Amino acid sequence: MKKAALVVGTRPQFVKTAPLTLELGRFFQMVLIHTGQHYDFMMSKSFFGELGIPDPDYHLEAAKSLSGDGIGKMIDRLESILSYEKPDLVIVVGDTNSTLAGALAAVRLRLPLAHVEAGVRALDKKLPEQINRVMTDAVADYFLCPTPSAVQNLKREGKCDHIYDTGDVIYDCLRSFFERIPVKPESFESLPNRFALATIHRAEAVDNKENLKSVLISLESANLPVIFPVHPRTRKRIEAFGLWGNMPGNVRFTDPLGYLDILSLIKRSEFVVTDSGGVQREAVFLGKPVLVARPETEWRELEENHWLRVAGYSFDLSGGVDTEIGNRGVLEHLTRPASAEMARILAGL
Ligand code: UD1
Ligand code: UDP
Repeated sequence: MKKAALVVGTRPQFVKTAPLTLELGRFFQMVLIHTGQHYDFMMSKSFFGELGIPDPDYHLEAAKSLSGDGIGKMIDRLESILSYEKPDLVIVVGDTNSTLAGALAAVRLRLPLAHVEAGVRALDKKLPEQINRVMTDAVADYFLCPTPSAVQNLKREGKCDHIYDTGDVIYDCLRSFFERIPVKPESFESLPNRFALATIHRAEAVDNKENLKSVLISLESANLPVIFPVHPRTRKRIEAFGLWGNMPGNVRFTDPLGYLDILSLIKRSEFVVTDSGGVQREAVFLGKPVLVARPETEWRELEENHWLRVAGYSFDLSGGVDTEIGNRGVLEHLTRPASAEMARILAGL
């Protein structure tokens, strides 16, 4: 049996690891490597238990920083592990620092590299995620694209070989856990009858005091309570900017939630305000209107079909959020079983 090393390190990557390890494990001996980029219990370990992900074979405890230094440490350790394990294939997912570190370690060792969520692009080339995606795709050998627009992006950049339109792996996990989404999130004693859900954590929003304040003020315009599970980056920034004392009265802040609890909240909410790549796609699948609190979205098909409204950092929620029922065929294409297709493709190479 061939050996595949899967490198992950952040919350969204753990969600995607659940279906990926299941499907890839049918064809490959899997080596799961956790870079340690996310490390709080509710940002990391809780997903392994809740989603039944096997324990990582390796955990790089030291990679606790977004800085270049953090990426360097990850590469260093990944190179030692990959040199020892000698996998036939290295697989990286998405657009985080862990993705880039895995990609650079693999290419430096001349190991074949597959990128899950290849070809996803923003217009802003200076976003950390955009840098990670472009650099990962520059050295990848196999491109597993979640959307037709991601395929087109790669072709526009001059790539022609081993580009596959596989569908979006975030939906595999959602589909397999759909029946287990609780009616009411277990971590909440009481919930308002009507509420909106907000999640904001992107560096360009929360590391900039004006953008962060603007989003918070905009949430105040909602005529209903807003539940806001706070990412550690956002919490640190709210503290550093001294904003806790002046928060909108209708916003209820909570710690990060477990996967099933956040899906339950999305399902019960009136609408979702988010800058999360994963949450915006999940909310569309669960039929909720979504306002994207960023200047753009990489999920072009969802925007073109009016399932999402891109609003920037300043928006008015007093009239709720209106989106349309877009082309179901497009959604079905994006949400087909992606991990199984990826596993078949990679096993056949
Ligand atoms: C990273 C990804 C981002 C992704 C997000 C998912 C990069 C460049 N960005 O952003 O694309 O959307 O993960 O959630 O990789 N922290 C904690 N505890 C944790 C995790 C982080 O306190 O468990 C703190 C870190 O110490 C740091 C800050 O949060 O101060 C940011 O963490 P980092 O992993 O660098 O980036 P994210 O903002 O999480
Ligand atoms: N998520 C979660 N708990 C939360 C917020 C998000 O389980 O409190 C899940 C969410 O359902 C999605 C993933 O984490 O599957 C998205 O991660 P995040 O928003 O951190 O990153 P992004 O997708 O923007 O890279």
